[in-house]
Amino acid sequence: MTESSSTPGPHGLFVSFEGGDGAGKSTQARLLGDWLRSLGREVVLTREPGGTELGVELRSAVLHGDHVDARTEALIYATDRAHHVATVVRPALARGAVVVTDRYLDSSVAYQGSGRDLGADEVERLSLWAVDGLLPALTVLLDLDPVAGRARLTGEPDRLERAGDEFHRRTREAFLGRAAAEPGRWLVLDATRPVEELSLAIRERVEALVGTARSTAAGGAA
Ligand code: TMP
Repeated sequence: MTESSSTPGPHGLFVSFEGGDGAGKSTQARLLGDWLRSLGREVVLTREPGGTELGVELRSAVLHGDHVDARTEALIYATDRAHHVATVVRPALARGAVVVTDRYLDSSVAYQGSGRDLGADEVERLSLWAVDGLLPALTVLLDLDPVAGRARLTGEPDRLERAGDEFHRRTREAFLGRAAAEPGRWLVLDATRPVEELSLAIRERVEALVGTARSTAAGGAA
């Protein structure tokens, strides 16, 4: 069974950012966090892989290790996520914080399920098991042509960034397909739009959810 942070249980709000490399996820996550803090909310800005001490080690292994086969790769991301959710995300939601994560399980479904061809359904099942069903109330997809995304990157490409154009095209299509299938959870934005315009569009969508999360908390739901 899946759950989202807008249902009774956690009082906080869980938002994830998804998209290809170079799409501007971390910039938008930061801007959203700044705005929410200005409203007086506690915000936990985090990321996958690498949102915990153990996660930093797993991130280094999966992105900079030598050969890592596809199933091992999927399990490393799932391990990182299980620990991240158990030790950072759920405790923050239980305190009423807004958790904004740069990538979550939709990345595994897109990159490992479709990019690596392990199968979206199987990777989704693995990922949901790892987090005991926790889904974000909102997932923002910053959609960008992978070739344009690569041109925005600086520094040495990591193992995933080196996976090739076809891999990244499959990943992009997988994100778009998931968003189209579940429009209530997703907000799809063209990542080539100006930063400020994107930020406003994201705020508009989050504003309604922040209200919902507050009234749930005020209503004292279990
Ligand atoms: P980042 O550069 O956005 O921090 O993400 C690191 C890389 O890991 C990026 O290329 C996407 C990839 N990734 C997966 O393949 N599966 C996952 O589940 C996650 C979270 C990231």
